[in-house]
Amino acid sequence: MRISVIGTGYVGLVTGSCFAEIGNTVTCVDNVEWKVRELKKGKSPIFEPGLEEIIRRNQGKRLFFTTDLAHAVRESDFIFIAVGTPPKPNGEADISNVQTVARGIAKAMNGPKIIINKSTVPIGMGDLVADILVQDGPTGMSFDVVSNPEFLREGSAVQDLLKPDRVVIGATRRAAAEKVAEIYKPLNCPIVITDLKSAEMIKYASNAFLATKISFINEVANLCDKVGADVADVVRGMSLDPRIGGQFFSPGVGFGGSCFPKDVSALVHIGKRHGYPFRILPGVLSTNQCQRTLYLEKVRKAVGKLKGKTLAVWGLAFKPNTDDLREAPAITIVNSLTAKGARVRVFDPVVDEKRSGGAFPKAKFCRTAFDAARGADALLLLTEWNEFREIDLRQLKRIMKNPVILDGRNIYDPAMVRDMGFTYQGMGR
Ligand code: UDX
Repeated sequence: MRISVIGTGYVGLVTGSCFAEIGNTVTCVDNVEWKVRELKKGKSPIFEPGLEEIIRRNQGKRLFFTTDLAHAVRESDFIFIAVGTPPKPNGEADISNVQTVARGIAKAMNGPKIIINKSTVPIGMGDLVADILVQDGPTGMSFDVVSNPEFLREGSAVQDLLKPDRVVIGATRRAAAEKVAEIYKPLNCPIVITDLKSAEMIKYASNAFLATKISFINEVANLCDKVGADVADVVRGMSLDPRIGGQFFSPGVGFGGSCFPKDVSALVHIGKRHGYPFRILPGVLSTNQCQRTLYLEKVRKAVGKLKGKTLAVWGLAFKPNTDDLREAPAITIVNSLTAKGARVRVFDPVVDEKRSGGAFPKAKFCRTAFDAARGADALLLLTEWNEFREIDLRQLKRIMKNPVILDGRNIYDPAMVRDMGFTYQGMGR
């Protein structure tokens, strides 16, 4: 099939590259010239396991990169919109990128096209895109607007695309949805075909539900701390009930990333606009912010006055296997500690000072985990990279000034590290 994908961010680039990998001819469009130049050399501008290999394998054969939107539109039958919808200060999604792209597509349309929205957009946006195409497109030209939300997790986006749990396709005309479904046929997965608005809702409701699950278990963990229960056992006991399940049930310093915080806020906003004020979701967001504050209190309790203390931080990215710092709990935590006069030495396996883009202005970046921990009054674990799970804890104890671990992701066994002589604090343990 002849496909173009507009936007080469995480979603667009993974989608375009994987569609080429399964045999389609794909043109990826971006208006940032240096990105397109790098991509043409087979280099991925983002860190995503497996992606660069796929780009190299297909680039110039079935996968093309350009800044020329009009050319890409003319050459394809399916046009995927995968541009950013960042949050405005009030939590509402900013849809101006989608609108600009829709106008560009409208002007270039030279025959019937299927325009598919992959960007996470407010419910009802599909109709808005259709209005733009009618207004700005050639008179009488036929087209379909389809919603096909993405469920890609950073760090496993390629796997998520090639082996999806489900694909959701919403359209006004079922025939259009069925044509888009053909693209996904080789992946052999369940395909849910529905109307435009329900597809848009599935995306928001899925992310909001997962975020709710995380905030729920975070609150349970906080209470476990107070009553002296162990949240790890609580989760084990609960998750054997298949109605509850064990996934997305790990307490910690809270969720971050480019999706959960933004999508939950956007859904709250959509609710308000339609006269339905969500009661649960504002709580999900405030619990999430609270996790950072509670963690900072744990740090203060463990080391006393922060001024002049040396603290090691392991993990900066919002989760493992990504270099993404968007909404990462580490940003609030580290900067609040340095503001209070602590000397903070940070290490992340992927995020170095350059990649951090100045997000931790007063922290000292270290080259290894042990470099960061040397002479520290406490170790703060904020992202559960495997490297930290497998670390030599005896060696760690030898090089720290005070063997204190504040495990913000519950990766260590409390009994074991306490036996080794550490003072250990987890989340709800
Ligand atoms: C998410 C969704 O999973 C994906 O389907 C969607 O389309 C985009 O948003 P992503 O943001 O890449 O993907 O990360 P994800 O793996 O979902 O984790 C989100 C955040 O929740 C991370 O900060 C993670 O640390 C946190 N988390 C996750 C927890 O705190 N506890 C958990 O049990 C699971």
